[in-house]
Amino acid sequence: MSEFIDYVRSLPKAELHLHIEGTLEPSMLMELAKKHQVDLPYSTAADVERAYDFEDLQSFLDLYYLGASVLIDEDDFYSLMFRYLERCRDEGIVHTEMMFDPQTHTERGIGFSVFMRGFGRAIEDAKGQWGQSSSLIMCFLRHLPEESAFETLKAAEPFKSQIMSIGLDSSELGHPPEKFERVYAAASLQGYRLVAHAGEEGPPAYIVDALDRLKVERIDHGVRCLEDPELVERLVKTKTPLTVCPLSNVRLCVFETMADHPIRQMLKRGLNVTVNADDPPYFGGYLLDNFEALHRELGLTMEDARQLAVNSIRSSFIDEASCAGWLDQLSVPTP
Ligand code: ADE
Ligand code: ZN
Repeated sequence: MSEFIDYVRSLPKAELHLHIEGTLEPSMLMELAKKHQVDLPYSTAADVERAYDFEDLQSFLDLYYLGASVLIDEDDFYSLMFRYLERCRDEGIVHTEMMFDPQTHTERGIGFSVFMRGFGRAIEDAKGQWGQSSSLIMCFLRHLPEESAFETLKAAEPFKSQIMSIGLDSSELGHPPEKFERVYAAASLQGYRLVAHAGEEGPPAYIVDALDRLKVERIDHGVRCLEDPELVERLVKTKTPLTVCPLSNVRLCVFETMADHPIRQMLKRGLNVTVNADDPPYFGGYLLDNFEALHRELGLTMEDARQLAVNSIRSSFIDEASCAGWLDQLSVPTP
């Protein structure tokens, strides 16, 4: 393993943009399809992998929702979560804020008690076994109506102590932030922290609206902000975190190749960017794979990686004492 990756692994990092349903590995997908006798258009894990050839966000989402259809009982959700948390342990991700999509499950008749119990047990086990710190972001699917988001917020009430934040994901174009303005206001009154995907495929105006109408504290992706210099200036001034996902951006054709990814310009411009994996098996890698690709294709340096780790801890919703502790560890100069 390269010196660069060993160094990045050793840095305490937070992962802030990771869809737990998007961590479903092809092998687990096939195992669960067999367990629950779910009919899929694939016979082997290799067939599934061959389908990971996307032209845009929607072509990925179609496969992602098909994959999620094999998650049925509490143990499935437990295993999915526990496997990702083991990955965090192995990659030096000391804190993770994971997104989940309740409507993907409730629409199939699988209730909150099934997935929240599975997630909750895995989170408790990881915390007990190696002190893993984590929290959950409940996302509304933006292609569904506002009414469904309100129903989801209501159904989450008995599980509120397990959920820290609200997010917004799925098909961005044609589903602007304003569609969810009222449900975000209601969630804010209930004490949830607020984030939203914006400016992945959608225009910079969606980022402005996520900030002004939804009142989010972080923008997921946000890479299209670069098309609007005034917005960039605002994001720099307010230090608004942008949870950037490089491998995802390339696989979904937001940028043609990793060499075209603007993350180093974004860092130089003073934007508060972090690196994240989004949906790792679908996009070709976990967090360290993203760092490795940035190092190889863009010349990301150890000092850049340290800055990105600092940004990730500062942009997380962990308590002040833990935040100060991790930042203290990150203040050591790069080798
Ligand atoms: N759901 C899972 N991954 C997503 C992404 N990158 N953008 C929007 N919705 C998603
Ligand atoms: Zn995402």
